[in-house]
Amino acid sequence: MSRTFYITTPIYYANASPHLGHAYADVIADVCARYHRLKGDDTFFLSGTDEHGAKILRSAEKAGVPVEKFVEERREEFKNLLQRLDASNDGFIYTADKEHHWPGAQKMWEKLMESGDLYKSSYKGLYCIGHEAFVTEKDLVDGKCTDHNQAPEVIEEENYFFRLSKYASRIKSAIESGAFQVLPEVRKNEVLAFLADGVEDISFSRPSKDIGWGIPVPRDPEHTMYVWADALSNYLSALGYGSSDESRMSTMWPANLHVVGKDILRFHAVIWPGMLMAANLPLPKALYVHGMIISGGQKMSKTIGNVINPLSIIDTYGVDAFRYFLMREIPFGGDGDFTLERFQDVYQGNLAHGLGNLVSRVFTMIQKYAPDGIAKPPADILATIPLKRQLRQEVSEKTVELDSETLHRYFHKEIEERYSHAMEVTELTEAIKILFSFFALLDGYIQDYEPYKLIKIDEQKALAVLWNLASHILASVPLLEPFMPSTAQKIKDIFVMHDEKVTIQGGVALFPSFDTVQS
Ligand code: ME8
Ligand code: MG
Repeated sequence: MSRTFYITTPIYYANASPHLGHAYADVIADVCARYHRLKGDDTFFLSGTDEHGAKILRSAEKAGVPVEKFVEERREEFKNLLQRLDASNDGFIYTADKEHHWPGAQKMWEKLMESGDLYKSSYKGLYCIGHEAFVTEKDLVDGKCTDHNQAPEVIEEENYFFRLSKYASRIKSAIESGAFQVLPEVRKNEVLAFLADGVEDISFSRPSKDIGWGIPVPRDPEHTMYVWADALSNYLSALGYGSSDESRMSTMWPANLHVVGKDILRFHAVIWPGMLMAANLPLPKALYVHGMIISGGQKMSKTIGNVINPLSIIDTYGVDAFRYFLMREIPFGGDGDFTLERFQDVYQGNLAHGLGNLVSRVFTMIQKYAPDGIAKPPADILATIPLKRQLRQEVSEKTVELDSETLHRYFHKEIEERYSHAMEVTELTEAIKILFSFFALLDGYIQDYEPYKLIKIDEQKALAVLWNLASHILASVPLLEPFMPSTAQKIKDIFVMHDEKVTIQGGVALFPSFDTVQS
């Protein structure tokens, strides 16, 4: 029986163009999706846009564009970003889609009604449009929401309320037991602390006369569904929930992994499981909560002038360099800093001079010394070229004795296995570090045997070293593919292994040097 893997990004607000943070979440989910697809899992990777609510309506009004058209334009930008990122998403859901999203969101609503978990109550509170949520006095500084630098609106109205309090202790146990994993640990603890403080029921609708841009409450169109109740349902509606064909619900639900930023932790770790419990649906297996990217130590802002445009980075340096930076240099699970200077250093150091140089040295030597290719050397020859150096592992910080270890054994035991383990537990930065430590090891292997000198002394041995290098560069391709799919393809196009004989099919620089890039 084949395993399934359902992974999602947040659905992004269609109130503005996508930025670096959205690209980050897309890449994280894509790396996981590609890894699982390669493993043979039947994978469904979903992204999309969140198009309803007051925030979006106001942005459209401000732009002087009808809201339907406004969200459509933003939606296309988010789709375009996914494409430019080489994201392999199988689906894209948007909440203004009456045919594919509304039935699912409305069915969810009906389920909450059936379990008696929606009730009407009049309410007075402070609503932050930036959050699309009610906030309390203690969230404010000088009367303003600190995240959005905006004063909330005082709202007094009759709303539907969701009986979230009823589920608080079940949510807590699901998280504690790991039935619903919240990763990393620091976020799990944050949610548990939040739950320990007690959870209140939450307003789940707004009057249609005030907020008409949304999904009408079934059988009570005077009310519009709360934008988060609407948005969270996307993870189900995208599988056909509420439609005439719910077959994908039975194969894909529960989701294996929701990828979200820490800004929306509570919605996903508290409200969403609460809704699912009320609707009698299983909880997702895991929630991965990534950190926030800032630039030059500050939140990106147009006024400061430190906004990084993902598309222009991709245009200049290529998509894989961008993906590499996000995965390797933003410590996964933590916050990270993205500056152009740092990006350029990493590009030059780890990519142009690192992987790019390794690949080009190896293919150039093979082209020169063995234009017809190199057949797999006999075992007794391979035995004469073990790894020589001691390696201090960047990841585990241990020193590994390599003398007499064969490259093949080392690759299998220290790279493939540790990489797979890291990927299985969603430690993406760790996994890419492990992989790149192997490329550094291969560089060291060239230095140890100096095939460009050895070729004059012992040709058979020198060619064996080159065969070893080429075959292990190729062996690492499946590990590289989730992170850097087009680079992986380029490597496969350069080195061709046929009947254990390696030949070179022309070569290109994987990461052109800076001067070339910028001219
Ligand atoms: O919250 N650094 O949409 P949103 C890293 N529509 N990631 C960032 C980021 C940053 N500076 N800024 C945004 C919403 N993100 C809701 C979600 S889901 C049912 C509804 C990423 O457009 C991060 O993944 O504000 C964050 O959680 C998401 O974009 C929020 O996107
Ligand atoms: Mg946001």
